[in-house]
Order: sequence, then structure tokens, then C-alpha cells
Amino acid sequence: MIMEQSSKVAEKVPLGLTASQWDAISKLRAPEDAHIPTTEASRPTSVYLSEARFEAEMRDLFKKVPVVAAPSAYLPEPGMSLPQDCYGVPLLLTRDRNGVAHAFINACRHRGSKLVEGDKPVKAGRVSCPYHAWTYGMDGALVGIPRQETFPSAKKCDLGLVSLTCYESGGFIWVGLDPDYAPEQIEGTDQVAEDLESFGLDKMHVYGRRLYDLKTNWKFVMEPFLEAYHIQRLHANSIASMFVDVPSVYTHLGDHQRQTSGKANFKPEMLQEEVDNLHKFVTHAYLVFPNTVVITSPYYFSVMILMPRAKDRTVVDYYMLVKGPADSEKAEALYAKSFALIDEVFGGEDFRAAELQQEGMNSGAIKEVFFGGLEEMIGPFHDSIESYLAPEDR
Ligand code: FES
Ligand SMILES: [Fe+2]
Repeated sequence: MIMEQSSKVAEKVPLGLTASQWDAISKLRAPEDAHIPTTEASRPTSVYLSEARFEAEMRDLFKKVPVVAAPSAYLPEPGMSLPQDCYGVPLLLTRDRNGVAHAFINACRHRGSKLVEGDKPVKAGRVSCPYHAWTYGMDGALVGIPRQETFPSAKKCDLGLVSLTCYESGGFIWVGLDPDYAPEQIEGTDQVAEDLESFGLDKMHVYGRRLYDLKTNWKFVMEPFLEAYHIQRLHANSIASMFVDVPSVYTHLGDHQRQTSGKANFKPEMLQEEVDNLHKFVTHAYLVFPNTVVITSPYYFSVMILMPRAKDRTVVDYYMLVKGPADSEKAEALYAKSFALIDEVFGGEDFRAAELQQEGMNSGAIKEVFFGGLEEMIGPFHDSIESYLAPEDR
């Protein structure tokens, strides 16, 4: 009986969605029928303020699980390389001639100079050190040493770039940040990847990228993207009217999370009909654990990678992804307007709120924070982080 039911669900999944996405969408209710969540949680403010806690998170979480370094779409062609410094580790992402992505430490094996500067993808096929021109292929192999006869003992095959764990999945380039440790993909990542690929994230195009250097703990930046409670309040003058003040459908995908939210114009009856663009009516927000957020919009997706730099500093690497390069003035105008709106809402409201939290808590007077029913996924986010830490660091 159970098997019959699940095969029926699988057969009727519409819109190219995964069965898991469709299951969540089917649970969306009209505002008057939504249940009132009452799950509460709390945390001591030391989880944001303590230096020891920050160091434990870097050591036992960020260096122990694969993290997103960039959307695959930002390194679209074979022969491209992309420096990525935002984690505070000089990374060099490359795509070799077979299209395989690699991640290396962006440092020369001769005398350690950074190889490639900047933060934009470039297509060159190989990288050459600015100091003495040792040259490397996109697969990290050392291919050229000027005046090689003066290094009689150097073996090129032993002097490739220092490589990091790297793979692509769900439209992202994932890396391990510690060259001495090869992290394994965490549970739930396959489902996240399947979901994001069902939306075509792996085939999208980067319209714009923006870096935000914020004076706040990375978890303060993450939390507004895990709850809808603030939308009618913090965003009262911007996007509040597009949403309703009801709980989303929350799904745990291992330590990753998915929020499925009906927008103000969503009606459950719509699911019986053909919908041309689901993203006009339903917003999906993913926590790609531990530090990446994906939010769907009708004509673009937002990807934010939150890169912790200190207990009170976070660099947010924001990407706006669209179906393809703008093919008309109308499309360009729409994308440009959206890119400006994102800066206003995320930059001016969500990120600002995260900085204000840090400022308030720097007083030392607030010892504990509370999460109510409309913030019910924040407690599990902290649970997930803490599951990687030693008991004395939690
Ligand atoms: S440091 Fe790179 S070639 Fe010398
Ligand atoms: Fe927000």
C-alpha cells in the first residue's frame, strides 16, 4: 500500500520538480488554514560573541565539511581560472580542458607568491607566476620553469599546485578548505543538488556579483534567511506586501534546510492547474549547510555564500543568477532593477539587521536570545553546527 502511494506521487510530480519539492508544495495551506507553530528555542549569546567558539567553528566545521566556493556558472568555460579570497584562504578555482573543476591554494610552489590576483574569472588555459614565471596548467600541474637547468634537482611532477578537495554538485563548486584534510559530502547534499538542478541552477548565468564586508558574526547573517517572522516587520517598506505572515513548510535535508513559502498571490487550488512559472507563487529558500543560501524569485535566483572572517566579521559573496544573458532591453532592465532591489533589501535591511544585532550584543548586557514558532528552523541550525563541535566548545 505504501509503495503504491509513493509511486503515484512520483508519477504526478509536475513542473520538473523533485518528488521532495512537490511533497512540500502540496503541504502549503491558505493563511486561514495554516497551523500556528509554537516550538521555542534559545541560545546563550556566547555562541556569537566568543572567540573560542569562533575558532572551534572554523576548525571543526568549516575545515571539516565541503563548503561552496562559487556557483559553477561563475566558471563556465574550460580553461578558466578564478581567484577566490573571501574565506581568508587564497583559493584558485580552475576548469580544465575537459571541463572538470579544481581547487588549489593560489600560491606558487617556487617561493610562495600568489599566482593570480583579482576576483574575476579569466580564460587563459594556464597560469603563470608574476615573480619568476613558473607556469601551471588548469589541472595544477607545473608545466614550465624558466632556466630550468638552474634547478637540477627540481622534479616538475612533484611541484604541482597544492590541491584541495573539489567537486561540483547542484550548480556549485564545493571545496575542502584544509589542504591536509579531505572532507566528505554530508548527508542530504544529494537531495539539495537534485532540487537545485530541477530548477536549472547548474545551467544558469551569473548576471551580477557583489561582495559585502559586514561587521557581524556569520550566524547573525544567516538567521534572517531561516525565518519569515521578520518579513512583515523588517521589510515592511520593501517586500512585505509580496508575502503573508504564515509559516513556511520547512524540510530538513540532513543538516541542510529547505523553506517552501506560498507568496501573497498563492492559492492551494493553483496546484490543480498548469502553472507557467511556479516561482511567481512559491518561494524556495535553501540553507546549503553550513553557510550558503539560495532564494528563488520569478526571474532570478540569489546565491549568498557567507564567509566568516572573524567572530564579528563576515564577507558575503552574493550572486544573482538568471537563465541566460539578457537577450532584450526589457530583460536587461528587469535584471538591473532586480539587482538594485537585492542591494536595497538584503544589503540595506537583512545585513543591516545582522550588524545591528552585533552592535547591540557587543554591550555584553544580553546573555540569551530566543527563537519563537515562526523562527523554528534557527534552533535546528544551531543544533547542526553544534553537532560538529566538541562538547566543551558548544
Ligand atoms: S615565486 Fe613563483 S615563480 Fe618564483
Ligand atoms: Fe529578509
